[in-house]
Amino acid sequence: MSEIKVFAPASVANVGPGYDTFGFAIEELGDIITVSKRNDQKLNFLPSIGAELPVEPLENVAGVAIQSFLTKLGSTQGFDITIEKMFRPGSGLGSSASSAAGSVFAVNALLGYPCTTKELLPHALEGEALASKCYHADNVAPSLLGGFQAVRSYEPLDIFSIKNLEALHVLIIFPDVQIKTVEAKKLLPVTLSIKDAREQWGNVAAVIHALHTKDYELLNRAITDRIAEPFRKNLIPGYEKVKKIASESGSVGFNISGSGPSMFALFTDESNLTSCSEKIEKFYSSIDLSVKIHISGINSVGCKIL
Ligand code: HSE
Repeated sequence: MSEIKVFAPASVANVGPGYDTFGFAIEELGDIITVSKRNDQKLNFLPSIGAELPVEPLENVAGVAIQSFLTKLGSTQGFDITIEKMFRPGSGLGSSASSAAGSVFAVNALLGYPCTTKELLPHALEGEALASKCYHADNVAPSLLGGFQAVRSYEPLDIFSIKNLEALHVLIIFPDVQIKTVEAKKLLPVTLSIKDAREQWGNVAAVIHALHTKDYELLNRAITDRIAEPFRKNLIPGYEKVKKIASESGSVGFNISGSGPSMFALFTDESNLTSCSEKIEKFYSSIDLSVKIHISGINSVGCKIL
């Protein structure tokens, strides 16, 4: 095999209280990445589609991720890489993570699978760190592996997943503003009081328990956040109004997706999604802001060959 095309899904990070800790992959939105082997040692980025991305390999999250992986393997194989984005960077849907995860996934396949998909995670993380200026796996882990992924520890990196989430339907609400993760991270407090911390880790525990036991009332109470939401919500036009609409429409969990501006609302009853999205569209139209709405399940596959 000398050429491969892969899909790397978008993802929702934080999921309420799990700042830099939880994330899940979504369906149909993501990156399509085409990688082919070259006869030399160059990493050559062809013009990207759907967003303007750097072509200099060490300025491109995919280039950094691939280089990290090749260095680990001791390989000097060169590649041509084309990234097609179905959503733009700065949307809160893990754009850089999709590029980093998809590119190492493609290279691993082209090289005959020297590593398992999970072993690619540290390299995808290197790529993601170029964009966010910090290591956070709550987008790259779900984009690479699919499903709901949680990071127990960064040092050493230790993740686990929660399976069987077919009952949950996701509404992604993407108002037309741009927030860069690196800037949104600077808004957060440097320290946390014990009072806030105990609320946060209580909610973290409750999210995991609720997902396992399918206790969606508990899930709804637990998807709340004292670290990022209070500081970031003001960057998102209409945040409180959209949250209220989602709640009145029967959502079982609402919060900012990653660093925003996208928001997510979880539902168990599929029939509530359409009326909720219509109300949200009507609201944004009333304030003259365009919004994109995406209805999805939780993507249990992660990166895949097309
Ligand atoms: N956990 C990261 C943050 C996700 O909230 O900054 C960025 O998509």
